[in-house]
Amino acid sequence: MELKNQRILVVGGSSGIGFAVAKAALDHGAKVTIASSKADRLHDAVDRLGGGEGAQLDVTDEPSVKSYFEGSSQFDHIVFTAADWTEVRHSSFFDLDLADAQALFQVRFWGAMAVAKHGAKRISSGGSLILTNGMAAHRPQKGMPEASAMAGAVEHLVLGLAVELAPIRVNGVCPGAIVTEAWDDVPPEFREFQEARLSGQPLPRAGQPAEAAEAYLYLMKGTYTTGQILRVEGGWTLSG
Ligand SMILES: NC(=O)c1ccc[n+]([C@@H]2O[C@H](COP(=O)([O-])OP(=O)(O)OC[C@H]3O[C@@H](n4cnc5c(N)ncnc54)[C@H](OP(=O)(O)O)[C@@H]3O)[C@@H](O)[C@H]2O)c1
Repeated sequence: MELKNQRILVVGGSSGIGFAVAKAALDHGAKVTIASSKADRLHDAVDRLGGGEGAQLDVTDEPSVKSYFEGSSQFDHIVFTAADWTEVRHSSFFDLDLADAQALFQVRFWGAMAVAKHGAKRISSGGSLILTNGMAAHRPQKGMPEASAMAGAVEHLVLGLAVELAPIRVNGVCPGAIVTEAWDDVPPEFREFQEARLSGQPLPRAGQPAEAAEAYLYLMKGTYTTGQILRVEGGWTLSG
């Protein structure tokens, strides 16, 4: 399948991996819409893309998601990369605030669920939905069990939706460390953990957003691929 003239919505496309997916899809001749919640970031991203359209959408607001898709045209593919990087601070697991832990799921898990629920009706025959989780699902870091649970929940949402929404194809991308704008704000201890860890993996560096974007392009084009999670992690899975 070629991406030329395919209509692609990237939810979370104003930044990072989503922006790189939007740029790569545009380069392949697709018609791209990027969606995100903050108008200023969205407009700036549409300018930087040099093509495509923007749609302001907060995925935590289900009525808005419903209304957006009721008024939208059809898409061939919907890519979901939205994330808000809610921090769940706790010195010990036993101090974990459960309300904070639940909030971690709002954009990345429940937002994905809302977009799947309302957006699937707008996916054309032969089209696909791609969600995004993260290697915390497979390589938990001490002090962040809730992040592993959230990433794992997204991964299993992919599996469930691949059955539920068939013949729409549903797949996921599981990134390792990818240097996006989100890295500007990560706590120093997390950055140090990542840098030390990266030195021991087969490809001893962080990935670039354009490298992660290739996985989404493949999953859009792979017409016999559904229910798969494609890891883009520099071989992290194979390191000790
Ligand atoms: N970068 C990494 O190292 C890495 C590693 C593992 C997994 N991942 C996963 O990859 C995905 C993308 O990460 P990234 O680094 O590309 O993130 P990013 O650069 O922070 O981009 C996040 C995007 O989500 C949008 N967004 C945030 N809240 C939203 C909401 N309520 N409704 C709609 N859009 C919203 C943001 O735009 P607005 O602010 O305008 O809403 C932005 O476009 C995430 O699921 C993340 O967990 C990333």
